[in-house]
Amino acid sequence: MASKTHTAPKAPASRPAGKAYTAPGITVFFDKKRCIHFGACVRGLPEVFDTERKPWIKPEEATIRKVTEVVRRCPSGALHYVLDNGPAEKPEPATVEPRPNGPLFVRGALRIATRRGVVEDTRAALCRCGASQNKPFCDDSHDECGFRAAGTTTVNPWGKKS
Ligand code: SF4
Ligand code: FES
Repeated sequence: MASKTHTAPKAPASRPAGKAYTAPGITVFFDKKRCIHFGACVRGLPEVFDTERKPWIKPEEATIRKVTEVVRRCPSGALHYVLDNGPAEKPEPATVEPRPNGPLFVRGALRIATRRGVVEDTRAALCRCGASQNKPFCDDSHDECGFRAAGTTTVNPWGKKS
C-alpha cells in the first residue's frame, strides 16, 4: 500500500486585507472590520500599536521579529504582516477555542466561506452568538446581546479576559 505523504499547509497567497503600515523590511496590514478589540497588539507592543496616536501602527518602533510575533497573537485576523525579504506567515497547527461569552477563535490553514466568497486566512474569530453583522466573523456584538456560554482562555492567552 502506498504511504501517504504529508503536505505542509500553505500560507494565504494574496495580499492581506486592510490598510497598510510600512516600515523598512515589513508592512503591517490592519482590517478594521475584523478587529474585535482583543488587545493583544496594544498590550504586546504599546510602542508600535497605540490607538491614541496617528498613525496608530508604527512598525518601525520595534524589531521585525517582535512585530511579527505580536501580530501573530491577534486572534481575529485583523492584523497581518508581509516581509520584504522573508517568509510569509505560516499557519499554525489547527486549533479551535471557544472564548468565554464570546466567539470561536480558530487558527490554522483556514478557508472560510462568506457571502463574498472564500476567505483564506491563518486566524479568525467566528461568531457563535448569532448577533454579528459581519458573519461568519465576530464583530463584538456578543457584548451587547448578553451572550453567555462557557469557554477557555488557554490557546490565546494574551488579551482581555472576555
Ligand atoms: S489584537 Fe487584533 S483584534 Fe485585537 S485589538 Fe489588536 S487588531 Fe484588534
Ligand atoms: S460571538 Fe462575537 S458577535 Fe457573535
